[in-house]
Amino acid sequence: MEKKKLRIGLIGTGFMGRTHSNGFNRITNFFPNLAYEPVMQAVCSRNEEKVKAFAAQWGYASYETDWRKLIARDDIDAVDICTPNDTHAEIAIAAAKAGKMILCEKPLSRTLAEGEEMVREIEAAGVKNTTWYNYRRLPAVTLAKQIVDSGKLGRIFHYRANFLQDWTISPDLPQGGAGTWRLDVEAAGSGVTGDLLAHCIDTALWINGGITDVSAMTETFIKERVHTESGQVQKVGIDDACLFHCHFDNGSLGLFESTRYARGHKALYTFEINGEHASLRWDLHDLNRLEMYDHADESIVRGWKSILVTDGDQPYMDKWWVPGLSIGYEHSFVHQAADFLKSLETGEPCSPTFREALQTQKVCEAVIDSAKQKQWKDTNVEWPC
Ligand SMILES: NC(=O)c1ccc[n+]([C@@H]2O[C@H](COP(=O)([O-])OP(=O)(O)OC[C@H]3O[C@@H](n4cnc5c(N)ncnc54)[C@H](O)[C@@H]3O)[C@@H](O)[C@H]2O)c1
Repeated sequence: MEKKKLRIGLIGTGFMGRTHSNGFNRITNFFPNLAYEPVMQAVCSRNEEKVKAFAAQWGYASYETDWRKLIARDDIDAVDICTPNDTHAEIAIAAAKAGKMILCEKPLSRTLAEGEEMVREIEAAGVKNTTWYNYRRLPAVTLAKQIVDSGKLGRIFHYRANFLQDWTISPDLPQGGAGTWRLDVEAAGSGVTGDLLAHCIDTALWINGGITDVSAMTETFIKERVHTESGQVQKVGIDDACLFHCHFDNGSLGLFESTRYARGHKALYTFEINGEHASLRWDLHDLNRLEMYDHADESIVRGWKSILVTDGDQPYMDKWWVPGLSIGYEHSFVHQAADFLKSLETGEPCSPTFREALQTQKVCEAVIDSAKQKQWKDTNVEWPC
């Protein structure tokens, strides 16, 4: 049967532009049973020479240098936003008004108010939407969710997560511009809270449910940096490190830490969940493994076991190689692309929708406010939503 086409217009040709393009390109080979197939219709970035080369490299039929032109095209069904955070709202709202489906990179927005406006406009337009919180779609993380949902852990007491990096320790690094827009609060909205903890929060909401209130501290270790655009030394507005603790709706306690000043750590995302009967832990540096301690095991062999999540009956793995053979970071994007296409077939939302991603924004905003005001803050998260 001939497949239905989803004609994609991707905006932004940096890190995420590459992961998403790779994701779409793998669908036909590895998800042959989907009713829809992605068509790499157009890609957009501001530099013509670079975007032309990107289109040729990744197989896009055409290119644009102005995202407004891409959105105005009749031959684009879905707009994929892979640009810095300060562009998400404007592009997403324009795309929604043009009736396009939207796939948007995380964090949804710089601020909660911006995110709320996006959700209002996207829902008013009634367009299909999803946010790329891709770590959910690593097989070991999806398996952790399935194990918690099965009740095997019993009552949950603790959820703790870290996301540690070390790339901004040098005071010589500028803020703003290509490569360092994450250090500029105008472009990024926040530092590690929106960039890294947003991932941890999304996974935590998904696996462990709503977060009710938070108490946080943040630190900006390097207070001033040269701004790439002005050439002037300017105050740094982002949080370099953030620690917060929280309550979940289910009565468990959460503990989260993120920093870009943990020398030696490049992208160490870890989480651990402790329940009444069992515990789980996961580490991005060993992403195919899920560790589990099950108190129901016979006492003489009881201990942490390491599950290599590569068997065909484990999440997503029937699509790949044979048991025992690993997959990587990039596959989380292939899985999200496939799940989006599947959701067109089923008519179900593709989680996390903008509304779900807005709940992560609520936690991020409460964390930043709590750190500033040195007070506990309610998040007003609605979960499930
Ligand atoms: N899901 C994840 O794990 C993950 C990882 C990294 C980044 N991100 C998110 O993805 C987004 C992009 O991050 P990145 O690391 O790919 O950034 P990047 O700097 O590598 O790439 C950004 C791209 O956007 C282009 N761009 C910027 N402004 C534009 C405009 N007005 N019109 C057209 N193109 C424009 C740049 O030229 C560049 O090609 C951010 O929101 C970031 O938070 C998500």
